[in-house]
Amino acid sequence: MKTKIFETTKNDIEEASRLIQKGEVVAFPTETVYGLGADATNESAIKKVFVAKGRPADNPLIMTVADAAQLDEFVTISDQARGLMDHFWPGSLTIILPIKPGKVSMLVTGGLQTVAFRLPANDAARTLIRAAGVPIVGPSANTSGKPSPTTAQHVWHDMQNKIAGIVDDGPTQVGVESTVVDMSISTPIILRPGAVTQTQLENVLQMKVIDATSTESVASNVTPKAPGMKYRHYAPDKNVVMFDELDALDLKQVLAPNDVVMAQDDMIEKMGLTKRQAWSLGNTLETATEQLFAGLRFYDDDSQITTIYVQKMPPIGIGKAFNNRLGKAAGNQEFQN
Ligand code: TXA
Ligand code: MG
Repeated sequence: MKTKIFETTKNDIEEASRLIQKGEVVAFPTETVYGLGADATNESAIKKVFVAKGRPADNPLIMTVADAAQLDEFVTISDQARGLMDHFWPGSLTIILPIKPGKVSMLVTGGLQTVAFRLPANDAARTLIRAAGVPIVGPSANTSGKPSPTTAQHVWHDMQNKIAGIVDDGPTQVGVESTVVDMSISTPIILRPGAVTQTQLENVLQMKVIDATSTESVASNVTPKAPGMKYRHYAPDKNVVMFDELDALDLKQVLAPNDVVMAQDDMIEKMGLTKRQAWSLGNTLETATEQLFAGLRFYDDDSQITTIYVQKMPPIGIGKAFNNRLGKAAGNQEFQN
């Protein structure tokens, strides 16, 4: 299959939406990462998404909508969940809700009694969904196990000739996937950290929210996990190692000629690294998060490189999401001197 590249013009998006109506798979931009879109009410279309990604069938898919009204047919919405939608949508929050029996395909839910919904803050994505007239499934548009794509070129790299089209809207803004919060149970639980933080959720809900991915929760083993969390994730083929700011100069001493460093600008300067040796994570937590997957993918495709060292971020705000994805890419390997 020849994969067609679409721009975000009205004509192109309408053509892409007709492919979705015909049961084809089209990758689409969101503010977090690119997704693989297909009609969420068409089982043969959903199957194509699993094939294109090489994704295990028991890992459920997100349903992506353009308007909150699209949810009513499929799920029951509590006042608490409604409050989150009013506050954070459109945006980087995925909300898990109990399904109305028989209303959502088992291929989407992976056999669970819940389904995850997201309303992205990207105009092209919402125009595409409205034109298609159905919610679309929207897993990240990477080959299963690889870092999520933050440009249309990343999607092309993984999906060329496997899907019908890609809507190119340039680089994404956030750079890591949305926060996933389970609202199907009495105490809300964060199953994946993202741009929307635990504190922001607690402020809107006026109640305690558990972070299942925090060190304490993982250690005590009390909280459930997103089905996707049991799979190896976000991992390049190269050896990835995290390092702490305090160990930077020790790392510099042992850096081999084929090793590279992803770090913030002040760190690159402090370590005295050349352009060839370093990928800039900018100056803020936001720029670091935006650049993480792009840098990993860049070095992963460079056969000269052996090990990628990546600077850890302070665990505040989106820094938690950064460290969470980096930890998975690194298999939790840390630089120790
Ligand atoms: O930012 C995002 O959320 C991106 C963009 C494209 O929208 N999408 C995305 O989808 O990251 P995906 O499928 O790659 O990740 C969804 C995660 C998976 O770990 C999955 O296991 C979990 O959400 N999930 C989906 N439905 C669930 C459910 N009913 N219960 C628990 N976890 C669920
Ligand atoms: Mg994914």
